[in-house]
Amino acid sequence: MRWSRQGETLIVHTPAKLNLFLRVLGRRDDGYHDLETLMVSIRRYDTLQFEPTVESDVSLVCHSTKPGVTGSSLPLDQSNLVLKAAHALKDHTGSPRGAAIQLVKRIPSEAGLGGGSSDAAATLLGLNELWELNLPSAELHALAASLGSDVNFFLHSCVAAVCRGRGERTNPVPVRHPLHFVVAKPQTGLSTGRVFQNLLIDESDSRISLDQSMSRFCAGTLAQIGQGMENDLEPPSRELNEDVADLLEQLRSSESPGAAMSGSGSACFAVCHSARHAQAVAKRFTGRRWGDVFPVSSGI
Ligand code: C5P
Repeated sequence: MRWSRQGETLIVHTPAKLNLFLRVLGRRDDGYHDLETLMVSIRRYDTLQFEPTVESDVSLVCHSTKPGVTGSSLPLDQSNLVLKAAHALKDHTGSPRGAAIQLVKRIPSEAGLGGGSSDAAATLLGLNELWELNLPSAELHALAASLGSDVNFFLHSCVAAVCRGRGERTNPVPVRHPLHFVVAKPQTGLSTGRVFQNLLIDESDSRISLDQSMSRFCAGTLAQIGQGMENDLEPPSRELNEDVADLLEQLRSSESPGAAMSGSGSACFAVCHSARHAQAVAKRFTGRRWGDVFPVSSGI
């Protein structure tokens, strides 16, 4: 996450993420699933602008950089995670302050790239600063966990982390060199809830574990990182959106060290040898039937 100030206005650029590894361990009594995942922050940013207001309410305006998508096609009601985060912060602290928030969306929605969660984390941090609340990190993390399973990862603002529990228990891990990817998302997205509902949990031990994936990730060669990439949500997502299967097949035959789906999809990615390689692969995919295609590197 990157911050700057223009007078009283606070501007926050907040990143997307990729899941390099995602294992679902089991279904829980609260309806969620326990999982183990390796998340990497990537340099594709939504931008949020927070301006203090005289009134005590919080307003939100969205703009999309995607051609044909207007601000009004993004949900601006209480289901929007930015407003949910702002109200959670107000309820928790009793703050009488207000804010006018502008959001510029560049992270594709329903993609498994964590855009909504990243916006929520930016809102918690942004309003904590704008409203001079000085909430300690532990309280912000408790609010983050109540908003969604990925919000804590973005609140940490780390390049990579192993996340457990619902995904909210985050342990940052070091990344030695920047990683380069090409990310592609089919025209249609996927609902995380529906993907989890359609998941059949595989309890066989033929699959690699988080520890094995992590030792490949830490070994650092791209071939090993590629071999360590697996996502248990891939089968239900392929079933719900046949473009995911096509896209993965094409990415896996693109001479990259490995390809996988991110989160619950529908975005998929290939790890590339260099920024130049990522640009070349992205060029081959652009203009085909995919909705969004972009080369990107790891970073906050
Ligand atoms: O936590 P988040 O709001 O992102 O989750 C959206 C939905 O995905 C949840 O309502 C739940 O159905 C499902 N989910 C799950 N297990 C997780 C994370 C999400 O079943 N660990």
